[in-house]
Amino acid sequence: MKRQQMRGLVMALMLTTALPTAAAHAQAAAPAASKAWMNAKLSADQRADLIVAQMTQDEKLTLVFGYFGSNQDKPKFTPHAEARMGSAGYIPGIPRLGVPPQWETDAGVGVATQRESSDPYLERTSLPSGIATAATWNPDLAFKGGAMIGSEARSSGFNVMLAGGVNLARDPRNGRNFEYGGEDPLLAGVMVGAQIKGIQSNNIISTIKHWALNGQETNRMTVSSNIADAAARQSDFLAFEFAIEQSNPGSVMCAYNRINSVYACESDWLMNEVLKKDWGYKGYVMSDWGATHSTAKAANAGLDQESAYTFDKQPFFGAPLKAALADGSVSQTRLDDMARRITRSMFAHGLFDHPVVKGPIDFAAHAKVTQADAEESIVLLKNDGGLLPIARTARKIVVIGSHSDVGVLSGGGSSQVFPIGGMAVKGLGPKGFPGPIVFHPSSPLKALQARNPGATFTYNDGTDPAAAAKAAAGADLVIVFAHQWAAESEDYSLTLANNQDALIDAVAAANSRTAVVLQTGGPVLMPWLPKVGAVVEAWYAGTNGGEAIARVLTGEVNPSGRLPITFPQSADQLPRPVIDGDNSKPDLMVDANYDIEGAAVGYKWFDQKGHQPLFAFGHGLSYSTFGYSDLKSRVTGDTLTVSFKVTNTGKTAGKDVPQVYVGPKGGSGWEAPRRLGGFKKVDLAPGASTQVSVTVDPRLLATFDSKAKTWTIAAGAYEVSLGASSRDLGAKTDVTLAAKTLPVSYDGK
Ligand code: GLC
Repeated sequence: MKRQQMRGLVMALMLTTALPTAAAHAQAAAPAASKAWMNAKLSADQRADLIVAQMTQDEKLTLVFGYFGSNQDKPKFTPHAEARMGSAGYIPGIPRLGVPPQWETDAGVGVATQRESSDPYLERTSLPSGIATAATWNPDLAFKGGAMIGSEARSSGFNVMLAGGVNLARDPRNGRNFEYGGEDPLLAGVMVGAQIKGIQSNNIISTIKHWALNGQETNRMTVSSNIADAAARQSDFLAFEFAIEQSNPGSVMCAYNRINSVYACESDWLMNEVLKKDWGYKGYVMSDWGATHSTAKAANAGLDQESAYTFDKQPFFGAPLKAALADGSVSQTRLDDMARRITRSMFAHGLFDHPVVKGPIDFAAHAKVTQADAEESIVLLKNDGGLLPIARTARKIVVIGSHSDVGVLSGGGSSQVFPIGGMAVKGLGPKGFPGPIVFHPSSPLKALQARNPGATFTYNDGTDPAAAAKAAAGADLVIVFAHQWAAESEDYSLTLANNQDALIDAVAAANSRTAVVLQTGGPVLMPWLPKVGAVVEAWYAGTNGGEAIARVLTGEVNPSGRLPITFPQSADQLPRPVIDGDNSKPDLMVDANYDIEGAAVGYKWFDQKGHQPLFAFGHGLSYSTFGYSDLKSRVTGDTLTVSFKVTNTGKTAGKDVPQVYVGPKGGSGWEAPRRLGGFKKVDLAPGASTQVSVTVDPRLLATFDSKAKTWTIAAGAYEVSLGASSRDLGAKTDVTLAAKTLPVSYDGK
């Protein structure tokens, strides 16, 4: 079929499936007389009730049916005319009632641009990756980062930001771990919740995603994550629960995968029972792009909006929904509830009262925000003999690999923010999705040179290990940059690609004063670890990543990142040593048995099995040292409060992250010996001390009873440990807790 004919067909299809245009609305009903719903003194619930009562059926149907916003892969993905080009999604407004359109942009590190076949990319500020922000263990930074990217979304004309990725890192090889908050429900929930709150402080909606148990990218559209209710509630669901309680996201995005053989966007358990009934969630559920599989089944299971219908096999919430309403397979009540949830979130998050208008962006100010986040995310994993920070006396410094002369790596897929100033390296990686491989033009080498004017720097691109080793010999310090690109829609290997292990091995053999800087989306194996003096995990460091890395290496910034994810010694230590599925068969209906580990995700699995990790959850060194003392635990009523003193016992100012772990004495009855119960990032001058107090959420002391639908704390003795990581635990105290039952609706207040 000729392209023109195809286009004609697509247009015809759009007309039949697309809902009436604004002109049709005008005929349907006269402009609303008084828009009582515009009274901002009313609650979002009241305003939603008022406006839905005025809507025609077609107007309600307009709200629940989304379009793509990009012209990639013409004509398959044909955007709606009023969409923002290169964006993720668009839902028309209802001018008659003053309902603004919903302009949707990805995603968690900034305003992302879908790969365009023609239009120029939007160039925007990129935060470091989500897992990097989690590695700061600093919710204030997460909030500020969210506030910054949300303001760029608003200034770019978007009022919905598809951020808030919080899926737990059940598998360290998950290609999208870089977008999320790591392996622990408390850390991930707190950090991603803070970012969502920051985004929504701009009077726009943020999503939280991908609901739920989207734990791998291999066969992501079909894999079934199989897990018992209680294990899900104590792990992946708890991360969502903490984040939702803290940030009240306007929308939840249901995931591609199946859970216990039911598609997430058709799961009554996920959407109606857990989210809307148990937790009382009042916002709306949108599908992921291509995650809608039916009309009545999805709608009745709790799906409120079909996103980007051209990604689905049919326009399920277009004409088929109208037909389902006519034949009663979807009730009018359900459609009214869908429209109400969507407009309620739009009222609650300022979309009516603060319509988005495109405006200027202060990129210089935003660069400071992303750099501060990156600086606190960098984790000093190893530092023998104080090899770092770079000695003032170092005169001959060799820098090798990973295009570190021109930029820093970012993760791939729908979250890709295209760099201000263009890509530092062109033509890398897949031409199509999830490529291209993007390096932000922030050069670690140039930033190091600027900070060490007395030193001579030599750069080697690292493509030839022997040449690199030759260049390294005799240097005062060698810095090898190694990277592992991770991207949506594929999982990745723990082994560094492109012969980088051999490169590091050869360089370290030539010069033991070698520091390795990793740019990865998560854990990697390090066969060369004993041979190198220092290792730094810089993640994907964002728009100003080169500056951030240089400031840590030179000691201008004392590293304070802590691992949000366990680095294993081998894939054999994992619950599933081989990832289930085969990505060369996209329709493969594969099962992933999450009941193997249940709620024991990450360090909990390693503790349960007694495995020794390469680097533990919570680990991270400093250029200073810190001491903990005066550990006390107090139970008042139902609340466990843990207090202690932190002292900077070193010679350098720095930040530290003391961590509190809790568990039943003897470890019985839980999925693992202990859980992270609390943490606090502190900033201390040399010799200074501070008193810290953390309260442990009772759900972290409980197990979930699926039959009774309650959180149950068993009476007895519990151990409270204080440490610098999940495996570096020092002082302990015991507390006795009384039996306690909390309803499933308990929300931490
Ligand atoms: C993608 C992702 C989702 C993203 C959406 C829009 O495939 O799964 O995270 O927000 O589609 O691009």
